[in-house]
Amino acid sequence: MSTADDASKHAPGTGAADDRADGAGGAIIFAFVIGLAASLIVGWVVFPKLLYSQKRQPIDFNHALHLGLEDQNCESCHFFREDGSFSGAPALAQCIGCHAEVQGDSPDEIRFVEEYVQKGREVPWLIYSRQPQCVYFSHVAHVRAGGMDCVSCHGHIGESERLPVYEENRISGYSRNLWGHNIAGFKKDSWDRMKMDDCAECHAREGVTQASVQTTKEGCFVCHK
Ligand code: HEC
Ligand code: HEC
Ligand code: HEC
Ligand code: HEC
Ligand code: HEC
Repeated sequence: MSTADDASKHAPGTGAADDRADGAGGAIIFAFVIGLAASLIVGWVVFPKLLYSQKRQPIDFNHALHLGLEDQNCESCHFFREDGSFSGAPALAQCIGCHAEVQGDSPDEIRFVEEYVQKGREVPWLIYSRQPQCVYFSHVAHVRAGGMDCVSCHGHIGESERLPVYEENRISGYSRNLWGHNIAGFKKDSWDRMKMDDCAECHAREGVTQASVQTTKEGCFVCHK
């Protein structure tokens, strides 16, 4: 009898304590979820915005339009010189044959002709794949000797209608294309990133230099000046 009484007396008390415990537990979980969400937003949305400044190219360039013109292909603008060096971003010389005068009514073309062609000023293109000064890279080794295509390192820029926004890392000054668009470092496609490890990974796979050589001092000078 007394046991039952005790039980019935204690029951509400225990229940209230449980309620309080549940309330506290709920609040902690709620705070945790909010905290997690806030740090994810800071980490994934705010931090990259603060870390990278967005820059527009001086002139937008439409690859798809130009490649649709007769006799235009990648080599019309990005070609190898006789000594094997790569022309890289095109100079005015690659454009002047068609743009000595304004052809259409596109604002980008008008600006291009008036501010660059007619003044003989080269366009200061921003290079997405620009590596630090200490890195040595050779297109002829990869494209000619290695038989690689442009897409495997650069993605689909060559087929695009607009040049992507250029994102500059405010700390290192390097382009975001080097360290990748994913803050956590995930890489889906071969062109998502161009860090040292990405170069070395392919070199190891292709047997460019033995893996053991890449970790020695001489190995560094394959890619470094
Ligand atoms: C009529 C000239 C022209 C043709 C043809 C052309 N491009 Fe371009 N390309 C440009 C210009 C201008 C840029 C802007 C400069 C830059 O970003 O380096 C550019 C930029 C690029 C870039 C960006 C390089 C970087 O890191 O900044 C890639 C990659 C590229 N082109 C690939 C191609 C491929 C592949 C083709 C053929 C399918 C092609 N291009 C055909 C003019 C041309
Ligand atoms: C074979 C001829 C040819 C060459 C070479 C050429 N263009 Fe063009 N470009 C054209 C034509 C045609 C148009 C379309 C003009 C129009 O009707 O608006 C055009 C359009 C453009 C536009 C406006 C595109 C738009 O979508 O708004 C720009 C900017 C431009 N060209 C820049 C360049 C640059 C920079 C180079 C050199 C790297 C170059 N072009 C080389 C023929 C050429
Ligand atoms: C193995 C990877 C790889 C391949 C394949 C490759 N590139 Fe590049 N490309 C790079 C790297 C890395 C840079 C930056 C080089 C530097 O900063 O010294 C670059 C730079 C460039 C630039 C800018 C150069 C400048 O300084 O003006 C252009 C344009 C370009 N590549 C176009 C192409 C085209 C077109 C092809 C195909 C014919 C191609 N690339 C194939 C990795 C590659
Ligand atoms: C997708 C594979 C791949 C990627 C990515 C790659 N490479 Fe290579 N690289 C090769 C191959 C294959 C060769 C050897 C080509 C040959 O001579 O047959 C090579 C050769 C080289 C050479 C030697 C050139 C010479 O003159 O002997 C240098 C330097 C080099 N790569 C630098 C780089 C750098 C820097 C990067 C990153 C920005 C890079 N590579 C990314 C595959 C790759
Ligand atoms: C397969 C090519 C390759 C090899 C081999 C290589 N590196 Fe690099 N390294 C790169 C590239 C590309 C970068 C620029 C991108 C980055 O920072 O990841 C770089 C960047 C660096 C940087 C940072 C420089 C800066 O300005 O931010 C250092 C330091 C460095 N490498 C040291 C080394 C040392 C030490 C070795 C030898 C153990 C070595 N690397 C071997 C390609 C290579």
